[in-house]
Amino acid sequence: MDWNRPGKLLRPNPDWEEDLFLTCVVGPVERARLKAYVEDVKQKKPRKPCYCQDGSPGVAPLMTLNNGRTIPSLGLGTFIGYDYQGVPLPITTYDTRRAVETAIDAGYRLFDTAYKYKNEDQVGQAIKNKIAEGVIRRSDVFVITKLSNNCHGEDAVIPALRRSLQLLELDYVDLYLIHWPVGLRKDGSYDETDYLDTWKGMIEARARGLTKSIGVSNFNQHQIDRIISLSKMKPAAVQIEVNLNIQQHSLIAFCHSHDIAVIAYTPFGSLFHRRAAYGAPPPRTDTPVLRRIADKHHKTVPQIVLRYLVELGVIPIPKSVTPKNIEMNIEVFDFKLTREEKDVLRDFERNYRTRNIKFWKDSPHYPFEK
Ligand SMILES: NC(=O)c1ccc[n+]([C@@H]2O[C@H](COP(=O)([O-])OP(=O)(O)OC[C@H]3O[C@@H](n4cnc5c(N)ncnc54)[C@H](OP(=O)(O)O)[C@@H]3O)[C@@H](O)[C@H]2O)c1
Repeated sequence: MDWNRPGKLLRPNPDWEEDLFLTCVVGPVERARLKAYVEDVKQKKPRKPCYCQDGSPGVAPLMTLNNGRTIPSLGLGTFIGYDYQGVPLPITTYDTRRAVETAIDAGYRLFDTAYKYKNEDQVGQAIKNKIAEGVIRRSDVFVITKLSNNCHGEDAVIPALRRSLQLLELDYVDLYLIHWPVGLRKDGSYDETDYLDTWKGMIEARARGLTKSIGVSNFNQHQIDRIISLSKMKPAAVQIEVNLNIQQHSLIAFCHSHDIAVIAYTPFGSLFHRRAAYGAPPPRTDTPVLRRIADKHHKTVPQIVLRYLVELGVIPIPKSVTPKNIEMNIEVFDFKLTREEKDVLRDFERNYRTRNIKFWKDSPHYPFEK
């Protein structure tokens, strides 16, 4: 291996020597440290963390939240998905744990889970394993989990978060989100609790140190505005669907104008043929204009899409359990798209939701267009 090849950060993973060269430019000090790191790994010494140039503990640069805390600008989603009938797939394997461990080795430091995903234990186990190996410290990773729709009562929030922390085997999470504005009772009927009351429970959870930051997910602009106007604390972050087919320019601008970070879920939308619903709008990975942009930057089409989201100023959380995809998805910080390329990508906007929850449309807090 040519350690003196100029200009690129070396990915410290000896299993993929042929494509060790990527991401930001580094100097001789980093080069020497990374070389030592790879040698350590080869000799099976405990792994040491890989630091990005800006001092962040991973590959993705850090962004600052409105409470002064920092969050990596890209993370790993962990929702395993639905079967062909729209039922969440059962968790029968250790895929999530392996994915999170692979991601930590690849330089991810942000992980998104939820009580509903039934894999908080695996996310926690992976983090615990990597701390034990000496790869990370707890403070290096940013863990997000979410409040179940069944726990919207103000007094239900803290017990729900404690349950998640127990599964994660953590003392605190970095961000706790209300998963949906729609509340549900155990029997499936609507719990009409005002989310402003749920939010009071969230504020209390933060005051008790169980979470460093709080936020909401799947709330519309009016609902976020209501929290900002009528509560004593605004969200640090909002998690919404953002991909080429639903770019959310106006909601993103609204959040950013209030200094609220936007986390982009389902960042690939309908990009993959095997995942696109019948009739879902373009593009796909073989759309020629995307292939041309990808070829020009020596990147893949999924990387182009993730880079576009990063340049929109949102935090994509692509899910993958496939090591090569996990590796590739974070390799988006070593190039920039041109204005013309971004215009091409912007044109795929269709206000088309992959996550359609019309079955909740009768809830008083249903967030989307009916
Ligand atoms: N707040 C919410 O209500 C909400 C809703 C939905 C999702 N989320 C969060 O957002 C995360 C991401 O969203 P998502 O899981 O819906 O969809 P996504 O990340 O847009 O897409 C995931 C799919 O893309 C595949 N994939 C990933 N990288 C790839 C690559 N480089 N090349 C080819 N295929 C690739 C994955 O397969 P492999 O695993 O085989 O790579 C998987 O099938 C979730 O996991 C979850 O954490 C939150």
